[in-house]
Amino acid sequence: MIKELPTIVSIYPLPFDIQFRHEANISIFHQGNFFAYEESKLVEDKEYAASVFPDKSFFCGLLQLELIPSDVDIWIFPSPSSKFDFQSLFSLFIYYKVLPVDVDSLETFKNWSDKHIVFIPHHNMHSGLGCLLNESNNFLSVTQDGGGDFGDPADLVVHLYESGNHKRLYQTNNYFNAANFHAGIAEILSFRENGKVSGLSAYGDEKAEILTILNSQLLRSSKLFHYKKERKSRTQPVPKRLNLDSFDKYKLLNPSPGHLELRDQLKGFMPQDIACTSEKFISSTYIEFLKKLLSEKVFESLNSSLTSSSLPIFFSGGFFNNVLLNREIVNNFSSSNKCLFGMAPGDCGLSLGAIGHYLYTSTRVRTEEFLILSPMLGPSFSSSSIKDLLDSVHLKYLSFDSFEKTCLKAANLISEGSIIGFFQGRAEYGPRSLGGRSILADPRRLSSKSRLNQLAKRRDWFMPFAPAIIDSYINLYVENPDFANPFMQIATYMTAQAKKDIPAAVHCDGTSRVQMVTEKTSLEFYLLLNKFYELTNVPCLLNTSFNRHGISTISTPRQAIEHLLFSNIDYLVIDNFIVGRSENLTDSYILHSNATLSESEQLKRLRPIQ
Ligand SMILES: [Fe+2]
Repeated sequence: MIKELPTIVSIYPLPFDIQFRHEANISIFHQGNFFAYEESKLVEDKEYAASVFPDKSFFCGLLQLELIPSDVDIWIFPSPSSKFDFQSLFSLFIYYKVLPVDVDSLETFKNWSDKHIVFIPHHNMHSGLGCLLNESNNFLSVTQDGGGDFGDPADLVVHLYESGNHKRLYQTNNYFNAANFHAGIAEILSFRENGKVSGLSAYGDEKAEILTILNSQLLRSSKLFHYKKERKSRTQPVPKRLNLDSFDKYKLLNPSPGHLELRDQLKGFMPQDIACTSEKFISSTYIEFLKKLLSEKVFESLNSSLTSSSLPIFFSGGFFNNVLLNREIVNNFSSSNKCLFGMAPGDCGLSLGAIGHYLYTSTRVRTEEFLILSPMLGPSFSSSSIKDLLDSVHLKYLSFDSFEKTCLKAANLISEGSIIGFFQGRAEYGPRSLGGRSILADPRRLSSKSRLNQLAKRRDWFMPFAPAIIDSYINLYVENPDFANPFMQIATYMTAQAKKDIPAAVHCDGTSRVQMVTEKTSLEFYLLLNKFYELTNVPCLLNTSFNRHGISTISTPRQAIEHLLFSNIDYLVIDNFIVGRSENLTDSYILHSNATLSESEQLKRLRPIQ
């Protein structure tokens, strides 16, 4: 059956459409195999990945699946805005040598495109990821983001997937939604990413005065999560902040602080208390709204052959990148409906979701071959090419004749306190590093956390690290296994045993963003975890993304080597080679000091919002 399936390429965003998007991504489906990747991981400056055709990811995928552009049967794009110019798409297909020679005019291209190009709305791309991750043939999906795109400007959609058919049961086009409210709080706290509000919230307290202010923002008369947003004036760009070494277009155009009315009301409160109160406010109000929506408008409308409680619910869209919200969703809904979260809820997951939606609705039959068991869908590199690179830059390294021996040495290094970069097999898809391109440390040592934050990663001290735990030991460390997720998408409460065994992996509020590792989700990482367990009796490693400034995740062996030499990780474990930093650098190259600050010292440095 698989041989009859079309070869599909899916791209987000639609090239040449009139809107600024970020997170350009591409997915390919060929004979039951998937390739999926984000362009921002492959370009030297991730800002340049915005609004362009994801060329590098596209060719990585063609290489991985041994294809050329004209082998592709179906091209999927997001539904275009009303201003989209079809001529530009024709030019793109000519440029990439996709078209047969007789398709040489706009008219013949239009005929060809009727059979070969499919447009799928933004929210269906979000929900379609559930078709590839969910074993159940029938399911509901709730998709929530800041407001889709110009081709599908909804912010919230409830979808029903039933027996090969898809139906939108409910949708709103509300710009003043919960996702944008969360982004507004991040802006007030001078963060660019909403996840930082969630990370900082663990250090604060819920304050009644802040809650009153936040409550006053919500329009209770509305049936939607609808807040007031008032800007005192438009925040102006600050060109003098231009830094060519770390160019960040977004920060230049949207300098903090934003001129928000709410910011004025929150002056004088500590940022961690604003973060804590906001997270609880957003979760509780959104869940209250969602319960009403599902019981009054969705479950009621289901066909009698479907019982609402039998349907899993797949949550997708950028709003569900919030691990605290996801925990509350599982808390509130999992007793009646299985709650599912994907590896890429944000727009970086749209191209793969579109393929899922297309396969589900066009083939009308679910097959096991469509299910994705592993998030390792990106590029891989041959052992010989990695060895050639190491030799060409004259690095000293250890070489092993089996992966088991490599893992044993790597596990030993970690258990002795070293921080390692782990670069193995195919890269993971989505915003989290899941053991394909990860930085790993010993979770038993509290010092691992401050070393990782301040030396190796130079990221905010309050951001938690994730414990990657072997699946069969989940109960040892996680209070409720319902919260164990293979993609690090839910903050879970940890057991007393976890606080004792793996203190560096437990956030100050007693939670962790756990990654449950199985043999099927990532074999290489699973083997390393087992070697570490054999040595230490601890079935867990501290896992964080393998990135550096300007590159969201290390993607190529060369980037990984540069990271080793110019940051403070101790070893790079790449394929069956282990490269040490100290053996390859003289002291004069060591860029960072070893001094770190404790969390309590960092907390004292926070100042009230001004
Ligand atoms: Fe979206």
